[in-house]
Amino acid sequence: MHATLKTLSHFDRAHVAHLKLEPEQEQFVDSLDFVFSELQGNARPDLEHAFSVVVSHQIVGFFVLREKAALPEWAPPGVITLHSFRVGRGYQGNGYGKAASRLVSQWISTNRPSVRRLMLTVEEDNVRARHFYMTSGFSDTSATYYDKKFGFQNVLERKIKSV
Ligand SMILES: CC(C)(COP(=O)(O)OP(=O)(O)OC[C@H]1O[C@@H](n2cnc3c(N)ncnc32)[C@H](O)[C@@H]1OP(=O)(O)O)[C@@H](O)C(=O)NCCC(=O)NCCS
Repeated sequence: MHATLKTLSHFDRAHVAHLKLEPEQEQFVDSLDFVFSELQGNARPDLEHAFSVVVSHQIVGFFVLREKAALPEWAPPGVITLHSFRVGRGYQGNGYGKAASRLVSQWISTNRPSVRRLMLTVEEDNVRARHFYMTSGFSDTSATYYDKKFGFQNVLERKIKSV
């Protein structure tokens, strides 16, 4: 399997519209409509980066990276944060999520060499995603964050190796 990342513009919602989730997974991430409306309304679009995950010319996943002034309130300065990560339900369980998380680390070490940590939050009851992150090189910082929409979140991080 050869996975790559492809940058998306903030108007490329149609490119990822087919990435549906299982009904029980929808509670864990913002809808694509919401994500793209936020991207389009952002005062600093240069600091939020949307990506698709591509395998065999098919888009199988999607996520957003945020940096600097676009970081969420729970993140310390100087890190990059991962948001809205999803693999389409028909593509899950094939290692694409793991491949994507490796590619994110590579993208950061190549394009943001001073950044040493990738961070994210995951809902306490999102058991599958938590298992996924803990077996994909992330560790629990033991910090928690209460999100008005999603409830209690664990803050995870992955160290970025220099190239
Ligand atoms: C979390 C997510 C991105 C993982 O993507 P993925 O491509 O399915 O992940 P991978 O195929 O790389 O598998 C990663 C791990 O999940 C496990 N897994 C795969 N299918 C599974 C299933 N149906 N149930 C439970 N675990 C499963 C794999 O076994 C693997 O673990 P292992 O290495 O110990 O064997 C995907 O499940 C998803 O989009 N979930 C809904 C959205 C979400 O919750 N996003 C995270 C928000 S913080």
